[in-house]
Order: sequence, then structure tokens, then C-alpha cells
Amino acid sequence: MKNFSYKNPTKILFGKNQIAEISNEIPKDAKVLLLYGGGSIKSNGIYEQVKTALTNFEVIEFGGIPANPEYSILLKALEVIKSEGITFLLAVGGGSVIDGTKFLSSAALYEGDTPWDILSKNHRTLKGMPFGTVLTLPATGSEMNSGAVVSRKETKEKLAMGGPGLFPQFSVLDPQVIQSIPERQLVNGITDAFTHVLEQYMTYNSGALLQDRIAEGILQTLVEIAPTVIKNPSDYKAASNFMWSCTMALNGLIQQGVPTDWAVHAIGHELTALYGIDHARTLAIIAPSHYQYNFNTKKEKLAQYAERVWNITEGTTEEKAYLGIEYTEVFFNKLGIKTKLSDYTEDYDGTAEIIANRFTERSWIGLGEHQDLKPTDVEKIVRMAY
Ligand code: NZQ
Ligand code: ZN
Repeated sequence: MKNFSYKNPTKILFGKNQIAEISNEIPKDAKVLLLYGGGSIKSNGIYEQVKTALTNFEVIEFGGIPANPEYSILLKALEVIKSEGITFLLAVGGGSVIDGTKFLSSAALYEGDTPWDILSKNHRTLKGMPFGTVLTLPATGSEMNSGAVVSRKETKEKLAMGGPGLFPQFSVLDPQVIQSIPERQLVNGITDAFTHVLEQYMTYNSGALLQDRIAEGILQTLVEIAPTVIKNPSDYKAASNFMWSCTMALNGLIQQGVPTDWAVHAIGHELTALYGIDHARTLAIIAPSHYQYNFNTKKEKLAQYAERVWNITEGTTEEKAYLGIEYTEVFFNKLGIKTKLSDYTEDYDGTAEIIANRFTERSWIGLGEHQDLKPTDVEKIVRMAY
């Protein structure tokens, strides 16, 4: 196991009707900006619950943060923060609203030339404006981590940011919120969380026995609850296990002391930036090709995964490893998620070169757990996913 230092300061309020508790978590004299997305919270009752909880606070609202939070819209929220003297941000939504709020938390205190630098120059946020979240869509883990991803339509870019100043002060996880989530977003959430675990697990053996078992436990739980969550999102047992699995998949715990990959996400973000494909689906497109391309360096872990998560006990390491990739793809397909780029766009010719060039321009020259994947390798992986 590698050395690590780990601190996660986010307080989790988990369970039925926990939204009411936010009044105890926000400073009494705060001027709150309530941020939300396209309006789902207004039709499923979450907005009402939040407003009731905030009765005694001074609150201003900013709605309309789209999926893949858009930089130009966030700049409008930044103006509100500054002109209204906002002191606390409350994100009510999925990963997009939470990530947008993290950008605003950083930008509100940022003293550089332009807030775009936070994204384009890898600014590490040590201190942001305090914020909390009410999670409405289990998927990203953003509710308990310090990362965010922001998109900019104008330049077709999607860039990540983060830093220890961007953990939410608190996050409300009420599994009842999933009742209103459309199937497309439920399967996206399962796929995203599943891939988060794979990115931190499908590398090489580093003797981290517990991290492996926790990672495999999250994967097995996602496989177990998936059919019930899709069939009946009101099933509380399935919903609560789904929600906690997604949070645990990316709150930093399973990545301590182990090598991590994240190439699938780095490449996947480009597919969203270029074609607007849902985040989770970009991962399902890239992951199988990535594991096939890097078969030799990942085969031990692939075989362990096949054995422990999919009960494939027969065959050589290579045979099990291969089946591990196949079962993963079948799992995504069974969720209704297609795994080829050509399933999403007819305009895919040249995508591999475009993405490889972008990585060269940004000097992203060492992807993967060994930091040895070059843009030429990325080009081949993307082409395999056509
Ligand atoms: O905007 P509204 O109207 O609220 O509708 C949303 C949106 O259309 C809807 N939705 C959310 N909760 C709902 C609901 N509909 C009905 N009932 C509810 N309870 O779902 C749609 C998608 O929401 P979004 O927030 O975009 O989804 P998700 O949580 O999957 O977030 C995706 C974003 O997070 C980033 C992705 O790149 C993408 O931009 N990620 C963030 C990460 C992080 N911060 O750690 C890690 C991830 O790998 C990922 O990159
Ligand atoms: Zn993801």
C-alpha cells in the first residue's frame, strides 16, 4: 500500500426527510444563494422542502444551471453573488448544479484576471465561499468530494478543477429524491458510479487488500440494486443503497494508497464537449476499448474483478480478464447504455485525431496509472470505440 494523507470534511445528512435539517447547518446570519438546475426540483417537491427549511434565512435564487454546467451561465450567477453580497451557496441538484456551485465558490474569492483561469490554468482552490448541497441525483459523488467539471460551449471545452477548499460543508442525501428521476438519468448514475470505482481499481495490484474489497463491494452493490432501482425507484432499500454507493464511489476513500487511472474520464469529457453525449455514456463508450488496449498492464486486476464481481472462476488469467471486459460491456448494454461512439453520432470520423491533438496542445502526455499513455495511444483507444 502506498503512503497517503486523507481528510474529508463533508458532513453527510443521510436518510428520509433530512432536508429539514439544513437550517441547523447554515450560519444564521448567512445571505444564501439557492442554486438549481432546469426545474425538476419544482415539480417533485424538493424545492418546497428546501424553501420551508430556509424560512428564517435571507435567500436569493438562481435557477437554470444546465446539465454539464455552462461557464457563461455560471458567470451570471457570479454577478448575483457579488452584487447581492452573498455569503453562503446552497446547491440543490445533481452533479451539474453541485459542480457549478463549486466553480462559483472558487470564483467568488478568486483574485486572478478571469475566472476562466481557474479551469484553464489548473488553479487549485484552497479556500472557497462556503457551500452545502442537497443531492437530487446519485451519480457523480460531487456531494462528498472537492472536484468539479465545467463546460464552455463557445470553445467546446470541458475542464476539471478542484482543491481542498471545495468540499461541501454538508450534503443532504435523502434517497426518496430518486422517485422522480427519469430512467435515462438513473442508468447514467449507475454507470458513472460503476466507472468511478473502475478508474480507482482497474490498475495493477498494489497490495491494498481492503481498498480492493471495498471497491468490489461497491461494484457488487451497484449490480445488485440496478434492476430494482430502474423498475421501482420508490423502493427505499434499493434507493438508499444506490445513493450511498454512488457517494462512496468517489468520496476519496477507495483511492487512498492505490494507483488510479482516470484516462476513461479524461477521454470521455472530450466526447461530451464535442458531441454533448451524457457523461456516463461517454465512459461506457471508452472503458471497454481502454481496458482492451491496456490489457497487458491491467490483466491481473481485470481477472480479479471478473472472479470477485462476476463470479468467473474458470480459465486462465487472460481468459478471465477478457471476460471481465465483456461482462462490463454487457452490464452497460443491459442498462440500455450503448457502448460505441457510432451509436451516438454519425459524425465520428476524425474524432480520435481531434482528441489526441487536444491532449497534445494541453501537454497531457502521460495518462493512466503508469502515466505512459501518449496522445497517440489515446487516438487508438478512441478509434477502437468507433
Ligand atoms: O436540471 P434539472 O431540471 O434539475 O434536471 C436534471 C438534469 O436534467 C435531472 N434531475 C436531477 N435530479 C432529478 C432530476 N430529474 C428528476 N428528478 C430528480 N430528482 O437530471 C438531469 C441530469 O442532471 P446532472 O446534474 O447533469 O447529472 P449528473 O449528476 O450525472 O451530473 C453530471 C455532471 O457531473 C460531472 C459530469 O461531467 C457532468 O458535467 N461529473 C462530476 C464529477 C465530480 N464533481 O466529482 C465526477 C464525474 O465523473 C463527472 O465528471
Ligand atoms: Zn464520472
